Amino acid sequence: MTIHIGAKSGDIAETVLLPGDPYRAKWAAETFLEDAKLINEVRGMLGFTGMWKGNRVTIQGSGMGMPSLSIYANELIKDYNAQTLIRIGSCGGMQDKVAVRDVILATTSSTLSTPSRGIFKELQFAPTCDWGLLHRAFHAAESRGVPTHVGGIYSADVFYDERPDLNEQMTRHGILAVEMEAAELYTLASRYDRRALAVLTVSDHLITGEALPAEDREKSFGDMVEIALEAAFA
Ligand code: ADE
Repeated sequence: MTIHIGAKSGDIAETVLLPGDPYRAKWAAETFLEDAKLINEVRGMLGFTGMWKGNRVTIQGSGMGMPSLSIYANELIKDYNAQTLIRIGSCGGMQDKVAVRDVILATTSSTLSTPSRGIFKELQFAPTCDWGLLHRAFHAAESRGVPTHVGGIYSADVFYDERPDLNEQMTRHGILAVEMEAAELYTLASRYDRRALAVLTVSDHLITGEALPAEDREKSFGDMVEIALEAAFA
């Protein structure tokens, strides 16, 4: 047990999928895993371990934002020896070529600040995904016929950003989408020599104002889970 995860040592697989929403973790475990068992419910941040095509996998909620994800990723890596951590979540599109429902595979994530900021001081560290995971995720997405974009994203600290000028600069510099967790996940994976990737679905669009209807969210989320599992185990 750790401060935030009630699982016993050995209850958590080496491969962990990290949706922000704990109820998405429950849905994904019940939908895609065999023999899924609840391994954490501390603070309602549900986690499950089960089997996918003969491979052991944990699906653990991370909460929203980098401070929350940082707690779970730190404990999963340092206390439970997680080796592969894949974020599955939603993002806001920031380019005209990116449409709602598209999948984004984040090579890197720009950020103003992460919980790791204090380490780097004046250095602008470039958090980077694992190439092997990215490569397999891209082919998994392509073979499912899901429109997919690969490139840089932005991990924001705030959902309700009062600085539209910053978003404009992101768009101008080719950032594909905004979410709130990947930069810290990639930074921790680099620090502890683990593999990480963010597989994201565009749920809303900052330029067009379009938003994914609620009934389409489950299908898009399912695609992401399967892309992440295929990337981890293919
Ligand atoms: N996640 C999904 N949409 C988002 C947005 N517009 N901003 C930040 N995170 C998001």
